[in-house]
Amino acid sequence: MGFFRLSHITNVFSISGFVQVISLLGLLLLLYKAVQYYLHRQWLLKCLREFPSTPSHWLFGNHIKDQDLQQILLWVEKFPSACSRWFWGNKAHAVIYDPDYMKVILGRSDPKPTRTYSFFTPWIGYGLLILEGKKWFQHRKILTPAFHYDILKPYVGIIADSVHVMLDKWEQLIGQDCPLEIHQHISLMTLEIIMKSAFSYQGSVQLDEEAKSYIKAVEVLTQRIYSRVRNAFHQSNIFYNLSSNGRSFYHACQIAHEHTDRMISMRKAQLKNEGELEKVRKKRLLDFLDILLFAQTEDGKSLSDEDLHAEVDTFMFEGHDTTASGISWIFYALATNPEHQQKCREEVQNVLGDGTSVSWNHLSQMPYTTMCIKEALRLYPPVPAIGRELSTPVTFPDGRSLPKGFLITLSFYGLHHNPRLWPNPEVFDPSRFAPDAAKHSYAFLPFSGGRRNCIGKQFAMNELKVAVALTLLRFELLPDPTRVPVLMTRTVLKSKNGIYLHLKKLK
Ligand code: HEM
Repeated sequence: MGFFRLSHITNVFSISGFVQVISLLGLLLLLYKAVQYYLHRQWLLKCLREFPSTPSHWLFGNHIKDQDLQQILLWVEKFPSACSRWFWGNKAHAVIYDPDYMKVILGRSDPKPTRTYSFFTPWIGYGLLILEGKKWFQHRKILTPAFHYDILKPYVGIIADSVHVMLDKWEQLIGQDCPLEIHQHISLMTLEIIMKSAFSYQGSVQLDEEAKSYIKAVEVLTQRIYSRVRNAFHQSNIFYNLSSNGRSFYHACQIAHEHTDRMISMRKAQLKNEGELEKVRKKRLLDFLDILLFAQTEDGKSLSDEDLHAEVDTFMFEGHDTTASGISWIFYALATNPEHQQKCREEVQNVLGDGTSVSWNHLSQMPYTTMCIKEALRLYPPVPAIGRELSTPVTFPDGRSLPKGFLITLSFYGLHHNPRLWPNPEVFDPSRFAPDAAKHSYAFLPFSGGRRNCIGKQFAMNELKVAVALTLLRFELLPDPTRVPVLMTRTVLKSKNGIYLHLKKLK
């Protein structure tokens, strides 16, 4: 009995001692984290002394949900060249929107911000968009021939066919005389174009349910990444994976991967056929997916399965979502500027007649339409911003500087709406892109610039031109004044309430 009492007392003593030690350690850790947090915040404040900002909340920074673009316009007006942006307590970026600043950053080889871009990797892996260093260079070299103009030339026919499928569908739908949400149709069309051209896909995509679920999955993925970047509690993988946002992100990843896996398996199966393999062997230049399947690195090895899937996931996303945004906003810009729409239509009619045949050569004969496309890309850049993490300190031409490790947002939206570069920036004025119009070479960057510029730029421009030309031959585009689009950024530029237009069939 006496022994029992003694051991009981010792136990209680040791448990409470243990709890005390743990509490003390916990407290020390908390204190250490608080000091670390404080010092980092002081460092940020010191670095950003010369980069002003509007007042920010200690926890929410200066982020207001879905107001990023409106906020940028405010900053561009108020703070010349650059400002700072606080996400929360100790997360801040310098935001730049001045052509000289852009030139400095895009002329360097700073990496993309590891943390933010890592949110994409469960979905698109380490493909060209995310890769860095030697491996990025190797992949860029392997993939550049897929965008050679001899490869792009025959794609014009594929693009035209897909545009006609969409326009035929629109003819059926507009009988009901109500405005049409165009972005969803355009997304299916651009997905079909990238699948048929870069991935040698031969089926129809625009009526396919599986393609619709891929597009829905991309919508979820880009939305989840957008909110994760802005949520302090979703930075850690452990907490994120347990959250409902995290779970729906991984579910959407699975749907996207099923789509791209199917594409790879189908092409591999086709290539088992001797005839198809022979056709590929005879080609001087290969399509994108065939390049990947036959690629050999400098040490003579094929691309790993992981690398192959990452590139396919990257190009499937980049190759359709950006162009869908581009085409949708160009149509909106033309609908709201009917006099320019009509001028483009007249030009296209002169070049293409009734549009039954469109070729590569036609695309350089539409200067006014090209000016309008560029002006729409200025007002509505499909990729509104990108990021960099400084690998060495930088000093900008006006003497302001930032240290190594600092995060920079290159706001193309801010740049394109900067009144110091573009007088009356909100006015649609294609003459800004007239051949004799003078402008800074870094004032217009829808496809970014420097060594990490868009590899699909030419492909995209061809697609935009064909889509605009063929659509204007068939329809007059009119805005729906009851549903003005509300811009929001989801990696690419979207509208919160869709893009609704009235389409009037031309005689
Ligand atoms: C209007 C359409 C498009 C726009 C506005 C656009 C814009 C951009 C921008 C701004 C970047 C730089 C991203 C960064 O630095 O983080 C980029 C990179 C990239 N784009 Fe595009 N893009 C378009 C179409 C396409 C198409 C059609 C493809 C593929 C067929 C494509 C594939 C890529 C890839 C792979 C990269 C990464 C390049 C690298 O880092 O080496 N893009 N694009």
